[in-house]
Amino acid sequence: MGLKYNHYSTKSIASNKFLSLRTSTILTTTLFIASLVYLFSPSRNSQEPHLLDHQGGLFRGDLRDAKFPWNKLSFGPNSEKLKLAVFSKTWPIGADPGGMERHAFTLYTALAARGHDIHIFTVPSDRKFHKDIHVGNLHVYFAANNHGSLNCSLAFDIFDQENRARPFDYVHTESVTLPHWRARFVPNVAVTWHGIWYEIMHSKLFQELFEDHNGQLSSGPMTELQEAMPKLVDEIKFFSSYTHHICISNSAGEVLVNIYQLPQRYVHVILNGIDETKFVHDPISGSDFRQKIGIPSNISLVLGVAGRLVRDKGHPLLHEAFSFIAKRHPGVFLIVAGSGPWGKRYAELGQNVKVLGALEPSELSKFYNSLDVFVNPTLRPQGLDLTLIEAMHCGKPVLTPNYPSITRTVVLNEDFGYTFSPNVGSFIEALESAIKDGTAVLQKKGMLCKSYALSMFTASKMALAYERFFLCMKNTRYCQYPLPTDF
Ligand SMILES: *[C@@H]1O[C@H](CO)[C@@H](O)[C@H](O)[C@H]1NC(C)=O
Ligand SMILES: *[C@@H]1O[C@H](CO)[C@@H](O)[C@H](O)[C@H]1NC(C)=O
Repeated sequence: MGLKYNHYSTKSIASNKFLSLRTSTILTTTLFIASLVYLFSPSRNSQEPHLLDHQGGLFRGDLRDAKFPWNKLSFGPNSEKLKLAVFSKTWPIGADPGGMERHAFTLYTALAARGHDIHIFTVPSDRKFHKDIHVGNLHVYFAANNHGSLNCSLAFDIFDQENRARPFDYVHTESVTLPHWRARFVPNVAVTWHGIWYEIMHSKLFQELFEDHNGQLSSGPMTELQEAMPKLVDEIKFFSSYTHHICISNSAGEVLVNIYQLPQRYVHVILNGIDETKFVHDPISGSDFRQKIGIPSNISLVLGVAGRLVRDKGHPLLHEAFSFIAKRHPGVFLIVAGSGPWGKRYAELGQNVKVLGALEPSELSKFYNSLDVFVNPTLRPQGLDLTLIEAMHCGKPVLTPNYPSITRTVVLNEDFGYTFSPNVGSFIEALESAIKDGTAVLQKKGMLCKSYALSMFTASKMALAYERFFLCMKNTRYCQYPLPTDF
């Protein structure tokens, strides 16, 4: 709104379109710089992790006041069983689910296994027809429209019927699956944000800066960047339609309180966890994997990257940085797991690169184990990349951009790996540090990553944190920590 107002006032005074455009550009730039200063100021980065660690260890009191991830706490067993409704954009059927589906699947199979009555309103991720799923106390209702995406009114109708039969204790939505105009009438609702426009705006900014540096013009000058701002304003306005907010990183939680101005008591941080039994440190499977894909034994260091090989996951950045590194360090090798437009270009980089295509889930853990360091070049500072966490569970240090969602929650300091600003120069510098440190130092960092991941990013810790959250929402007795049943 600020932008629009400025645009009009300038226009009416000067009647000069050029001037008004310039003003809005300057204003946009100023806003971005101000938000960057807020996000990246060193004092925030260096002080708070300690403070947070400290609080997590000693915390006593009302969980709704916790300013750190609930995953840090040790929740004990309880006998109370809940009836929960869940709105999720999709439910994973078949291969290649995205992060949000995986979150819903991992969380709710775990909560159903713990005896809670779970009802999920969603559509199959393959967009084909499937019958509803009823396994034990896990109920998945598919409510698709003709295109295979969620028919929200249909989903809400089924929810309503089930709610009338026996009311739900609490309702949970994965992002805006339950839209805000409906959420307004559902008082007992919590939403988990997997990415907010404030972070997406930074993604667009980094993409713009990177493309500008490379002399490319994307979809017209700064279009995506300019479109992000009204979306952000819109989002800030409707977020208050949801009662409770769960963020998946510390930095997103702070943005909801400091920028979106939601009351602290309604903003909680619960980090995503992955199945810790699927991703384990196993050096033997790692060296078998190296042999199988034909990595020469005389190389000095193996870097690996995984995920979709597309532009906004930062592949132009890694491609450019690695072609420089490969010339300076012929003993450094790059393994690329995943498919997408950038696969072919990596293959053209020559004998130091191996492009594997998309891996079977059973191969992923072996892939991580075959690496010396896991590289995540993403230009998207939103959410929490699950690949980072999977690599850490396998005992690998990580090399990633220095976004607050990462440095405040995952790579707390240099003992966990290497961070860089999302530009080629800084990326190369980080790669050079990792190469200089060598395998022994990398292994040491990897072991620290593993123990940290086990203490924070496991599916069981995530499920226990959400269980306690919903219990606390139903009965404030459970908001107290620790209870006699907690460890
Ligand atoms: C969505 O479901 C409702 C019934 O609840 C139906 O009337 C409507 O036509 C459906 N819309 C689409 C696009 O399938
Ligand atoms: C590894 O050995 C191969 C074949 O013997 C040789 O071509 C290559 O240059 C060597 N690489 C390094 C980094 O020493």
